[in-house]
Amino acid sequence: MDSIIVTGGSELNGDIPIAGAKNACLTLMPATLLSEDPLTLTNAPRLSDIKTMTTLLESLGTEVTSMQDGQVLAMSSHKLTNLTADYDIVRKMRASILVLGPMLAREGQAVVSLPGGCAIGARPVDLHLKAMEAMGAEIELKDGYVHAKASGGLKGGTVEFPFVSVGATENALMAATLAKGTTVLKNAAREPEIVDLAHCLQAMGAQIDGEGTSTITVQGVDRLGGATHRVVTDRIELGTYMLAPLIAGGSVECLGGTIDLVAAFCEKLDAVGARVEQTDRGIRVSRANGRVAAIDVTTEPFPGFPTDLQAQMMAMLCTANGTSVLEEKIFENRFMHAPELIRMGAQIDVHGGTATVTGVERLKGAPVMATDLRASVSLILAGMAAEGETRVNRVYHLDRGYERVEEKLSNLGATIERIKGE
Ligand code: UD1
Repeated sequence: MDSIIVTGGSELNGDIPIAGAKNACLTLMPATLLSEDPLTLTNAPRLSDIKTMTTLLESLGTEVTSMQDGQVLAMSSHKLTNLTADYDIVRKMRASILVLGPMLAREGQAVVSLPGGCAIGARPVDLHLKAMEAMGAEIELKDGYVHAKASGGLKGGTVEFPFVSVGATENALMAATLAKGTTVLKNAAREPEIVDLAHCLQAMGAQIDGEGTSTITVQGVDRLGGATHRVVTDRIELGTYMLAPLIAGGSVECLGGTIDLVAAFCEKLDAVGARVEQTDRGIRVSRANGRVAAIDVTTEPFPGFPTDLQAQMMAMLCTANGTSVLEEKIFENRFMHAPELIRMGAQIDVHGGTATVTGVERLKGAPVMATDLRASVSLILAGMAAEGETRVNRVYHLDRGYERVEEKLSNLGATIERIKGE
């Protein structure tokens, strides 16, 4: 497996292009299953998770043509030839469960393996299944597979989520577009990726109101048509690279970034003493002189501080002036980067869902292990602030979510290289 070697101490300056959102693309792609007509996505990120979703859709009968070096995905699901999402593909990526709603809505049946993905907690799919049941589906779990059936098609209903789930909201939203009658999704997720999905579905002919609020109303239609849709900017990649100059020093303009995608995160950057400015090309971030200030962070569903930026924020706070407290409220096991950061000289105490980070003046390079997607990039960020060399091993997860990370960071002046493994 590949490793990444970072040598700390270089300031970062220049611009960095931010890709289309992985998490938006992973829900926009299954939307093709809802229609016989083509769906084309532009601004798609070039990531291994997108390849996994492509393989999954192809296994169901979708034709996927990747153009412009993977940034344009033309999909056609004229006829679904298989209604089983196989374990061998689904286990690689939790977002595979997002084919359930569209297949069920279009064909009245679907069989989907229970998913895998990053090991950041139990991450069950019960809310997805309850939403399908609220729309009239019968669900059975057998041999590690979800068997879902809706003879005569899905029917509109009220789905009240007991807590916010991004994926379950997306699955329910897609399924509801073809259900008979009206569906109301209560306590729905409000993430920009949900709004992006709703806009794409609306372009395909869906009747959706309230996206971006916690109540989404969908009036089912008989069929959806084709569309061309541009994937929204990746707010997590954006936030990650906004932290880079605060960790390493310098001034970086993240091209395509807009503050509305990362407002809660920007408030925290303000509090640590960063300069953050919306320009006509993106967001420019630079560090005022000296160390950043310590702050407290609690992860929450959008519009709160995103859990997907918690590891990267922790990497920065390792060298802040004072003690910071990070509370993880979304996933119960999402501090696996902490022991790795401690190997680099960080002072972190983890108790349950709370991590207390006492800033040190300088981290020291060390060999570390990437444990999940966002943890991997947090170790690279930490390596840029460390003295000497940091070798991040097992970067397989990184490639699921960050395209050409070493190229993007070395263009800014970072000393970073990939060592190819077997
Ligand atoms: C999505 C994102 C992921 C992000 C997460 C939270 C994608 C592909 N992934 O994941 O990067 O970290 O949102 O912002 O978009 N839960 C249940 N039962 C369910 C579903 C979820 O208990 O049926 C729990 C999860 O274990 C977790 C919480 O709900 O504790 C939130 O998860 P959810 O919002 O569903 O995350 P994902 O959609 O999997």
